[in-house]
Amino acid sequence: MTEAVLAGSATTRGIVGADDQWWRRAVIYQVYVRSFADGNGDGIGDLAGVRSRLQYLADLGVDAIWFTPWYVSPLADGGYDVADYRAIDPAFGSLEEAERLIDEARNLGIRTIVDIVPNHVSDQHPWFQAALASGPGSPERARFWFHPGRGKDGNEMPNGWVSNFSGPAWTRTQNPDGTPGEWYLHLFSAHQPDLNWSHPDVRAEHEAVLRFWLDRGVAGVRIDSAMLLMKDPALPEIPAAPGPGEHPNTDRDELHEVYRRWRVLADSYSDSRILVGEIWLPDIDRFANYLRPDELHTAFNFDFLARPWDAASLRDSIDSTLAAHAPVGAPATWVLSNHDVTRPVTRYGQADSSFAFATRRAGVPSDIELGRKRARAAALLAAALPGSLYIYQGEELGLEEVQDLPLDQLQDPMYLRSGGTDPGRDGCRVPLPWAGTGSPFGFSPVGAIGDPWLPQPNRWAELTVEAQQRTPHSMLNLYRTMLRIRRSDPVLGDGHLQWLPSADDVLAFARGDGFVCITNFSHAPIELPSGCSLLLASADASDGFLPSDASAWLRPERSPTYDGTLQGPTEGGE
Ligand code: GLC
Repeated sequence: MTEAVLAGSATTRGIVGADDQWWRRAVIYQVYVRSFADGNGDGIGDLAGVRSRLQYLADLGVDAIWFTPWYVSPLADGGYDVADYRAIDPAFGSLEEAERLIDEARNLGIRTIVDIVPNHVSDQHPWFQAALASGPGSPERARFWFHPGRGKDGNEMPNGWVSNFSGPAWTRTQNPDGTPGEWYLHLFSAHQPDLNWSHPDVRAEHEAVLRFWLDRGVAGVRIDSAMLLMKDPALPEIPAAPGPGEHPNTDRDELHEVYRRWRVLADSYSDSRILVGEIWLPDIDRFANYLRPDELHTAFNFDFLARPWDAASLRDSIDSTLAAHAPVGAPATWVLSNHDVTRPVTRYGQADSSFAFATRRAGVPSDIELGRKRARAAALLAAALPGSLYIYQGEELGLEEVQDLPLDQLQDPMYLRSGGTDPGRDGCRVPLPWAGTGSPFGFSPVGAIGDPWLPQPNRWAELTVEAQQRTPHSMLNLYRTMLRIRRSDPVLGDGHLQWLPSADDVLAFARGDGFVCITNFSHAPIELPSGCSLLLASADASDGFLPSDASAWLRPERSPTYDGTLQGPTEGGE
């Protein structure tokens, strides 16, 4: 293997900015600030907590941190209801502290990505408050989607759109004199009024917010709900089967012009600043349109995350992802989890291991041990694929979804608005266990005055960072080794893969001449190819057999016995 050192590898880590293509292979760690680490002991994660744990992230081997919204917010949707885009919520810290954090991370070779929420604001945002205070037809209301109701006395919603958090997408206002007034649109909760992106103020304000953060040295922005900003001004009902670009509130063609302007803005900085889209779209070619060279740099690949633990399905997702990205020249991203979806350990242990918001239900049983094996295997699979990789905090600890949180402590509007049908997302947002044998597991400092904002299960004593550091084959050590190998091998990250012949329930591919990844989805061990040395495996493969639900990374030694073929399942290979 070549010893060439890529920018971004251990040797050059201090020089953030030295590699303008860094994002094509980066490992980006998602910090959900509220639940990462609590510095001031109030039970809520904060910037002081993140600063105290930066070395942990450096040791893990990540290239960048994406922070979920840290702005002033009433937290009606965990911070995705922003009241001031230029200030940090006092529960988290201050702007000055965010600036320090960005610098400290940079000194450790870690870039920072902030979360921009352009589709909607908090109902406490000064613009919305001004809109409520001003009458129908006012310029203040024109920045939102206020509309008279239908029917007698305007009692019916302007159309039948449904919120992404269940229930109606419209809420009726009261006039200053107390009489029922106009309705306003919110594709999420009623505390998140949608902005009108045809309005010049809305565009100018968000461009100013982008500059505000890019001027503070952030390396990029994650764009929340990036496919929703533009609406058909006629507000028609949603057709049963809208054709491409025909949906009245999703993936409208006018959006591309917004992102082209943002790209010019990002490119006006001399070092590379990136735009990452949160784009949930079933049509992968429409998805890829956002990644044309003059639009966003990358977008989360949710198709991979939504697939069940099944070789054919995952292979299909990998193939279609790579095929859709190739024509636009963008690298794919690989995402196993985030703050919105069921944690992989739990999902992969469920009878139906696919993910969809629409079908997620509370109380689905999971074989956590099986799920954890598969999550380990999935990590090696995802990290070996061409492109960049996202890790959601706690994924590297193998945390499961906490499905037994007390119902009266749940905060997620997805749970609240669905009347409990949807379990909501609190279960993947439980504060991290760092050390010790009981809650708060080092999440809050000794002598903390507040309990963690969501209770941590006692069983997490085995999953703390401290405990896993001591355990050679822990998930944390697997992730650390995986990221170290990924960073030091230039063939990983951006590039191509070559599928190798294998049985149907095995995925095997090469990256260049010197790297092979094999995942065994079958129910029996498979023999690893000869002529390869084992770099890393998600389960014990030291006898030359890869157990079921496991992945291995191999280095072919160019031995004449290695011909690129792999055997199918072998019974009794223990
Ligand atoms: C995105 C966020 C999610 C949030 C929603 C509304 O999907 O990831 O957490 O609730 O947008 O802003």
